[in-house]
Amino acid sequence: MGGQDPDMRDTTVASNTTALNSLLEKVYRVERYDFREYKRGTVTRRLERRLHATGAKTYLDYMEFLDDHPEEYQRLADDLTIKVSGFFRSPYTFQQVARLVLPELVSYPKKRGERSLRFWSTACARGEEPYSIAIMLTEYLGHRLPDFDISIHATDISQQALKEAQAGIYSPKDIEGLPSTILESYFTRYGEVYGIRPDIRQMVNFSYFDLASTTKPPFLNLDCIFCCNVLIYLQEQLQERVLNMLYDSLATPGYLILGEVETPTSNLNERLECLDTKAKIYNKNGGGDDV
Ligand SMILES: C[S@@+](CC[C@H](N)C(=O)[O-])C[C@H]1O[C@@H](n2cnc3c(N)ncnc32)[C@H](O)[C@@H]1O
Repeated sequence: MGGQDPDMRDTTVASNTTALNSLLEKVYRVERYDFREYKRGTVTRRLERRLHATGAKTYLDYMEFLDDHPEEYQRLADDLTIKVSGFFRSPYTFQQVARLVLPELVSYPKKRGERSLRFWSTACARGEEPYSIAIMLTEYLGHRLPDFDISIHATDISQQALKEAQAGIYSPKDIEGLPSTILESYFTRYGEVYGIRPDIRQMVNFSYFDLASTTKPPFLNLDCIFCCNVLIYLQEQLQERVLNMLYDSLATPGYLILGEVETPTSNLNERLECLDTKAKIYNKNGGGDDV
């Protein structure tokens, strides 16, 4: 029977895991790209592509290739980050944010005499999500928009994605499915491509931030955080660290929006009130916090 000896197979799996760990450590040590706590299934599938593209047969070969071709680190990081996104990617979520969250945020600061609205799109890819937030706020506030001091922070670890986000230029495929009213109001056509309206672009501040890099939040007192479709790639321990950090970033009340298939880790369940299970909208109401 041509099958591999099970003991041999275990050894191969173990040495592969060791080699993969060394490779991810190396990538972190040399370039500070930290994929050590990403789900291994996605990482290995994506790494296979880089091995194939570079002609490396094993992780060890690939580490040697990295030594000889340092520019490969960037390609690897780009391949390991999945940047699929879309304007109003989950329309129901945006609809429910406008219905459940914005009225609270707009009336609550008024009570305190404040007029600031602070948002953070934590894995903004090529800008589709933060620009959707800016459009949503513009539509919702209408003529009241100038009365509010709005900041929308948008961060990501992909430098390439951030560059494209800042440019705000999209292909017909990128804007496919957008209602024509939104397209006509907020985009300008330049030949074959579409540019986001300059005032919408100026509402968003883009910067590099690695969610895995620290437990200290880069922003505080935020009203609303979008952390969509990035936790799914992280192992549970890292998900928990990231969510704790986001929790600390939020004001009270403050709203956390997750991707359609994401949920808070168990340690946050008691401290976040779920406002809509389908739209994945959670409220930090301070109820479960120690005083
Ligand atoms: C699938 S996209 C999601 C984009 C958008 N949030 C959405 O829901 O459409 C995942 C994004 O997460 C970014 N990302 C992955 N790991 C990250 C990290 N540790 N810190 C910040 N961004 C990260 C990737 O570069 C990519 O742009």
